[in-house]
Amino acid sequence: MLRATSVSKSFGGLVAVDDVTFEIGDEEIVGLIGPNGAGKTTLFNAITGVHPPTEGTIVLDETELTGSKPHEIARAGVARTFQTARTFDEATVIENVAIGAVFGTGDSKARAETRAYELLEFIGLDEQAHDPVGELNIADRKLLELARALATEPAFVLVDEIGSGLTPTELETLTETLERIRSEHGISVFWIEHIVDAIMGATDRIIVLNQGAKIADGTPAEVQSDKQVAEAYLGGVEV
Ligand SMILES: Nc1ncnc2c1ncn2[C@@H]1O[C@H](COP(=O)(O)OP(=O)(O)OP(=O)(O)O)[C@@H](O)[C@H]1O
Ligand SMILES: [Mg+2]
Repeated sequence: MLRATSVSKSFGGLVAVDDVTFEIGDEEIVGLIGPNGAGKTTLFNAITGVHPPTEGTIVLDETELTGSKPHEIARAGVARTFQTARTFDEATVIENVAIGAVFGTGDSKARAETRAYELLEFIGLDEQAHDPVGELNIADRKLLELARALATEPAFVLVDEIGSGLTPTELETLTETLERIRSEHGISVFWIEHIVDAIMGATDRIIVLNQGAKIADGTPAEVQSDKQVAEAYLGGVEV
């Protein structure tokens, strides 16, 4: 279980994440939504040690992650993708994923490449395995990052806006993939997405941030009928 308790993150005077507490259980798929600038990515950065919280604690099972370095948190079992994909563009698709396997599990190069190929098949990028990453479109780069995250064999994967720009069919495949990450790999998914229909249909639970604070945490149906959530999305903020 991943547990955040009273997590805040300030940048100078700006409180980007404000006293947020939540838990994500094993093999759960939890959505994280909220208007632009609500603090969603900052919360991911706090959990993964990119920008450690100013206050509060983050615990994975019995292990305190607060204040640990990003690579330590990744090794402890929390992997992520980035809102803007961070890939090694000179390398091939399979090499990018194999890096994750070597890093996360200490696999030999040969073993890492075998596992990387299996993950590319799982994610649907096996036909591009030997292409340079520079040739992939943005949507496929995000899938590649997801495969690389899975290669570290995490307990939790944090997915930041992977669905934008996908066709409805691609989006359906993506939500099926996230479901299979849970059911076939036993990994919990914490998923930021602006495509509310997709996230409503594919998650067990949704957490809503607004101006850094958690304003709702419940089933998709509960969140959809929440008055505060409706208000947060009014006023021309596109979701
Ligand atoms: N490194 C940083 N330095 C200063 N301010 C930051 C930094 N990162 C984020 N912020 C600010 O924190 C607030 C929350 O930003 P964040 O990126 O977490 O929002 P978000 O919910 O992910 O939005 P979006 O849906 O647009 O991706 C914003 O006001 C943003 O400008
Ligand atoms: Mg963001």
